[in-house]
Amino acid sequence: MKTFYITTPIYYVNDRPHLGTAYATITADVLKRYHQLFGQECKFLTGTDEHGQKVEQAAKKRGLDPQVHSDELAENFKTIWSDLNISFDVFYRTTDDFHKKAVQKALQELFDRGEIYQNTYEGWYSVSEEIFYTEKDLVDGKSPEGKEVTKVKETNYFFKMGQYQEALIEHIEKNPDFIQPNSRRNEVLGFLRQPLGDLCISRPKERLSWGIPLPFDDHYVTYVWFDALLNYAVAVGYNREGMSEDFKKWWIEGEVKHLIGKDILTTHAVYWSTMLMALKIPLPTQIFATGWILNKNQGKMSKSQGDVMSPTDLKNHFSLDGLRYLMIRDVHMGNDAPFSIETATLRINSDLANNLGNLLSRSTNLVNKFFDSKKPNTGDLEHAQHLVTLGEALPKKVEELVCSMKPSYALEEIMSFLSETNKYLEERAPWKLVKEDPKTAGEVLANALEALRIAATLLEPVMPETMTDLLNRIGFGKLSFAEASHWNKIPEGALVTKGDPLFPRLEVGS
Ligand code: MSP
Repeated sequence: MKTFYITTPIYYVNDRPHLGTAYATITADVLKRYHQLFGQECKFLTGTDEHGQKVEQAAKKRGLDPQVHSDELAENFKTIWSDLNISFDVFYRTTDDFHKKAVQKALQELFDRGEIYQNTYEGWYSVSEEIFYTEKDLVDGKSPEGKEVTKVKETNYFFKMGQYQEALIEHIEKNPDFIQPNSRRNEVLGFLRQPLGDLCISRPKERLSWGIPLPFDDHYVTYVWFDALLNYAVAVGYNREGMSEDFKKWWIEGEVKHLIGKDILTTHAVYWSTMLMALKIPLPTQIFATGWILNKNQGKMSKSQGDVMSPTDLKNHFSLDGLRYLMIRDVHMGNDAPFSIETATLRINSDLANNLGNLLSRSTNLVNKFFDSKKPNTGDLEHAQHLVTLGEALPKKVEELVCSMKPSYALEEIMSFLSETNKYLEERAPWKLVKEDPKTAGEVLANALEALRIAATLLEPVMPETMTDLLNRIGFGKLSFAEASHWNKIPEGALVTKGDPLFPRLEVGS
């Protein structure tokens, strides 16, 4: 089985994490945990993008040296990610020494091979996007995204990106999964129908000092995207001493997925891909562009829009696993999604407090009351055949949906399986049945516990803490994907414990 390497974008240290950035990070974490559950060896990278004009300006505003500012903000990201139970393996910082060296090595190689040349450039620059535009790119004097631009005329260095246009189109056409979802793939192919120019990859030092010096001309620093994009490959060993085996394992031979926001599609699908081609590095398996978490005005939630929600506040309100669940359940990957407290409250109540929570509390309470807290025998399973068939088929379904980047649909399947189990319990009413036929009542409860085991195993990547607790309460006490496609795996007589609700009902309107 291939290794699985998943990355988030590395975040600019001009802002604290908000719900939008937390969304991307939680999603990557959940995907990593799923692939781990399915048996793949996984690595998960997140980090911070610390050079460039945007960060320099943010530091200046605070009257701080950019390195001091970056150190503080990077710590901030780490703290919030750990509060959200993000299991990153690499926290990448572009101001780390090994990164600077690796970037300079890549630049020197391209320069030596004639892939980089000097020219005078006249055009426009958007600081907030850190992107150059030509006159014809502008829409009403702003960037196509509506950002302010300033005029620049400079002598700079350029990467011969244009010469890779045909090769890139061919790669995208031959590998339909390379850029996903399909709408984004079409967008990139549309972009590539226009002639692809070369990429300005430097800034003169007198304009911007906060960057990595070009190794062949120290009057310049590297353009922030050329610096930042290399993080993904350098993290697993590219241009790093003694790490060639790692690079082979994680990049050359492994499955590599970049999760990005749709606003940074071109920089990844076009700049990054052509940089890789020039550097003779294989392209990643997939670049998947997610949509945005929207604010109240249906715009992208971002600091500049002034309407950001704090993931820490939301975690305190909905519980850690509640928030993680919301991010996956109600955002179909690739689409934009509004976030509102009201809708989120209804979701937590219906899926977690009622559907999952009631099933757990009823089953464990009844086993506690009538069966001395021991898991009863599942019997001949005849009356539960429908449920058994559904449950045993569920892991495969979930695996397929997650591997095709549809985790929201996987959660929908799990919830509908739990609804079926609740229906089964209602119909059999073991609380009544126990008086006249305790053996069958025990079997019904045992089946409910088996259904909970399968569901909890499949929900664990989304809600690691609560599902571990649940698996302990039902007497299984471990996480096993292999056993999730088989009924009757909780040992008969295993200790079943009741406890507080995993997800207390939330007051609507609170
Ligand atoms: N530093 C660059 C990325 C370099 S990767 C080599 C950058 N940083 S960013 O901090 O501005 O944004 C990082 C990511 O967060 C982007 O993918 C962006 O789409 C995502 N999000 C920021 N706000 C978001 C929402 N409101 N919703 C979903 N994702 C959002 O770009």
